[in-house]
Amino acid sequence: MEEQKKNMLSLIQPTNTPHLGNYLGAMQNWVKLQNDYNCYFGIADLHSITVRQDPVKLRNQIKESYALLIAAGLDPEKSTLFVQGHNSNHAELSWILSCYTQFGELSRMTQFKDKSAKHADNINAGLFTYPVLMAGDILLYQSDLVPVGADQKQHIEIARDIAIRFNNAYGETFKVPEGFIPKFGARVMSLQDPSMKMSKSDPNPNGFVAIMDDPSVIMKKFKRAVTDSDTFIAFDPENKPGVSNLLSIYTSFTGLTMDEAVKHFDGLGYGSLKTEVAEAVIAGLEPVQNEYKKILSDKAYLEKIMADGAEKASAQARKTLRKVYRKVGLA
Ligand code: TYM
Repeated sequence: MEEQKKNMLSLIQPTNTPHLGNYLGAMQNWVKLQNDYNCYFGIADLHSITVRQDPVKLRNQIKESYALLIAAGLDPEKSTLFVQGHNSNHAELSWILSCYTQFGELSRMTQFKDKSAKHADNINAGLFTYPVLMAGDILLYQSDLVPVGADQKQHIEIARDIAIRFNNAYGETFKVPEGFIPKFGARVMSLQDPSMKMSKSDPNPNGFVAIMDDPSVIMKKFKRAVTDSDTFIAFDPENKPGVSNLLSIYTSFTGLTMDEAVKHFDGLGYGSLKTEVAEAVIAGLEPVQNEYKKILSDKAYLEKIMADGAEKASAQARKTLRKVYRKVGLA
């Protein structure tokens, strides 16, 4: 049975304070998908050092974000949960694939342009080749699907291009992956500026809700959320981006359809909308927050499943890497 399931992979960086965007755009969907696919989920720690990190903090953040995956509902018995840096196949494949990736195509990546503008004092080669490492992550596991938020679309495209190019040169080696982007929640916007995606690098901390924020903080942030100058509640991302963002968050937490949510708020004002969305988020995050604290307090358990995950992931990745070595003529 297991062999017939399609493969799915996605990773998250440990250094971004996980926020509602990560939860709704990624983790919540991963949890829904874990029964139907052969899943690999993990922590992209190698990606995170493209920006300077404090080593002590990074070491803790890797453990914390791994604990959060489990707290969010991923089951280490069902999915392979691993840390990218615990599995050297990723770095190895990344080097090989970088020889099959063009300078020009990497120069066109919007994230590279954005990040090099933000970190003008440290435009390192890793920042430039970041998409190649990510392509390696995906291709190592012969992933059919990659569930991500909308901001990762261009990275999936280049992973596909690299896979196709390699397959054309050497014969079928990699599965060509598809992005899997949720209908709602794929682009959670800042609560303070709904034209920008929610991000922990938002200069205004009221713009994002961290998964671990206290209920009182969550309520305060939603109460301050920017809406618009009308007074009615409707889903219209173009003309009412703030209200539509709140509605999307509401549907993701309650499981209601957008029509049902809009009907629910019919005749109510923005005050009620903000309070009810905050309440839904607080209730939805509460079990995740409790579980997170429990898992982190059990260091032995955490270390054991991290080691098991690394072993399972490495065994799978190694099969692909061996094939690549043979195809290229390195073995
Ligand atoms: P990262 O760590 O920035 O984000 C993790 C996931 O969260 C999604 N996301 C959002 N979704 C909706 N609204 C938002 N405001 C929002 N912000 C972030 C992202 O789309 C992502 O799915 N390069 C990746 C990590 C990575 C990866 C991979 C992903 C490394 N290797 C292989 C997939 C496959 C990143 O930095 O995600």
